[in-house]
Amino acid sequence: MSVIHAKDRIVVLSHKEYLLKTYPDANKERVSQLFDICTPFRMDLEALALAKRIETNTESNKKKKKRKREALEFYPFQHEVDYLRKVYSEFIQNIKEDIFPGNPSIEEIKANNKGVRDHVKEVMMIMDRDFHRTCNEDEARKENFIIPENCQPIVCDILDFERYVTQDRKYFLILMDPPWENKHVKRAKGSGTDYKMMDNHFIQQIPVPNLLSEEGLVMIWCSNNKRHRSAVESWLEDWGLKKIVKWYWLKITKYGELICEFSGHKNPYEVLIIATNKNCETWRNVPDNNVLISVPSAIHSHKPSLQPVIDKYIPHLPNNRNNFINNVLE
Ligand SMILES: C[S@@+](CC[C@H](N)C(=O)[O-])C[C@H]1O[C@@H](n2cnc3c(N)ncnc32)[C@H](O)[C@@H]1O
Repeated sequence: MSVIHAKDRIVVLSHKEYLLKTYPDANKERVSQLFDICTPFRMDLEALALAKRIETNTESNKKKKKRKREALEFYPFQHEVDYLRKVYSEFIQNIKEDIFPGNPSIEEIKANNKGVRDHVKEVMMIMDRDFHRTCNEDEARKENFIIPENCQPIVCDILDFERYVTQDRKYFLILMDPPWENKHVKRAKGSGTDYKMMDNHFIQQIPVPNLLSEEGLVMIWCSNNKRHRSAVESWLEDWGLKKIVKWYWLKITKYGELICEFSGHKNPYEVLIIATNKNCETWRNVPDNNVLISVPSAIHSHKPSLQPVIDKYIPHLPNNRNNFINNVLE
């Protein structure tokens, strides 16, 4: 089961279990290692300093905390942070210890996830083929893509997508994880953990209205950048869609700590905007503000699969054979 807990707005997921179940032929050890995130993201020196403070029982750096608090004052989505803090504290009180027991050891704090970081470099080298080359299903299979049952892979530039589908084909679910421009990806250029970015203006040109069925859903992963959030709003308008709900993905370590603190610059969450055609009333009962909580894969930008959550909260969505999932790693 990859939904480990679901009550009220909190949905705890295991992305690892999902991958192991969906891809039984994949290398289990390699997959599991991707999720071996023991401590929050820190610089190595910061991790060592923290370990030392714990060992010597000394105070933390208050100045830094104050700077983080100040940065949050200018954060445009403060209401989301307030909401997620409340949900997280509920999770810590009632759920954490059963599912993510214990705390990181001093050795784990010092190691600062080095094992998993090295592992990702290795995985990225193995995957360092041309992911963006156009190829059909047979080519994809030859290229060692692991393709789940009942899926038809189309690997192409998204703006050419319509060329590869039969003209009248409509999808019940379009899941988009756009290649947002962001500082991390720019900084990581050439390191193997970056991706090709796409200007928001080009993403708007994806012919979503031609591809979506009348009662279909569009789900869009979005970062916490005001410009990107506004872009999603304008795309929806342009595509004749309306937002129905917003869900959150809160990222934690294997001991249930947030992968980073809430701050004005970096946050331990992303949002998923769910939309449908403006005149469609089918999805009025989809719950708003669900918080998906999971240990993220150490591969940058790798999202947890939404299939188990969709099965649970949107069970009337027709079967997945017709779903178009823009998820290059799955
Ligand atoms: C945010 S990542 C997707 C991550 C993926 N959903 C996952 O869970 O691992 C965006 C992806 O879009 C790809 N991309 C960038 N420009 C593209 C284009 N024009 N057509 C298709 N894919 C593109 C990037 O290379 C990157 O792999």
